[in-house]
Amino acid sequence: MGLDVSPEEILITNGSQQCLDLIGKILIYPGDRIAIERPGYLGAIQVFSLYEPVFVPIELQSGGPDPAAFEMAIAGDTAKLFYGIPNSQNPSGITYSEKRRKTCADILAGTRTIVVEDDAYGELRFSDRSYPPFKKYLPDQTLLIGSFSKIVAPGMRLGWICTPQLIMDQLVVAKQASDLHSNILSERIASRYLADTNIDAHIRKIRGVYREQRDSMIAAMQNDMPEGVTWTKPEGGMFVWVTLPAGCSSMEVFTEALKKQVAVLPGIPFYVDDGGTDTLRLNFSSSDTERIVEGIQRLDRVIRSLAA
Ligand SMILES: Cc1ncc(COP(=O)(O)O)c(C=O)c1O
Repeated sequence: MGLDVSPEEILITNGSQQCLDLIGKILIYPGDRIAIERPGYLGAIQVFSLYEPVFVPIELQSGGPDPAAFEMAIAGDTAKLFYGIPNSQNPSGITYSEKRRKTCADILAGTRTIVVEDDAYGELRFSDRSYPPFKKYLPDQTLLIGSFSKIVAPGMRLGWICTPQLIMDQLVVAKQASDLHSNILSERIASRYLADTNIDAHIRKIRGVYREQRDSMIAAMQNDMPEGVTWTKPEGGMFVWVTLPAGCSSMEVFTEALKKQVAVLPGIPFYVDDGGTDTLRLNFSSSDTERIVEGIQRLDRVIRSLAA
């Protein structure tokens, strides 16, 4: 990532989800304004909600957060946090362009807004092109979060946070209060795994597999989806984000698709305001290409029957 970081700046956590909870514990007070992508990561919305903030949704465009909305959310130094996923965002699959990262970082510079940069999918990009993290632009203002879940195994529950010292001290106390420490057996297994295997080669392999599965999903959608359905073409990660034709309800698609043994996620829980009634998240990492093509064909029939 091109960052100059010492081991003291890294805390190993119980999955990266725990980072979000600990951030909530130490930083979020009722009524604090939190700027978040629209749509935003459901797990962050859930965990931050426990600390009763006011969410300020920022529309996500194909190149990243809408700059005007971003400026408005951050202006006047009123946002306590900005939470974002610049690489292959969950749920949209969108990756912020380098220009948009710079624009957002320029807006944030000089404010007291803390950037929570969630890089859960950073390693899963499908091309060699990578962009600087916010941590590079705003090292003292950014808490960078990562996970072993997407590249090794989610069940090990290992994540990490890279943070300036002041916040680290508070995080360590909050983590002790939460769980005393992370699972040492998992840490030792991961440590041995990283020592004994070529993790870069492993990541290249899963990138290749996921890229192929993404291509199959996109190709199947191009062949099958009815007029009026649109979707993102993610540069990495695990998800394609679908917008349905006007009047077609994502909840109905969800219910009907399930009857055909196809699981999709309706967009509604990814919105902190009213939204998502016409959007769906599709996952391409957990099925092989044959099942993806079959799944898209079944989904196509469901959408056609409901849009008719
Ligand atoms: C964007 C994002 N952040 C964090 C997490 C939490 O992952 P974990 O706790 O397994 O590291 C997820 C899981 O799906 C995610 O999509």
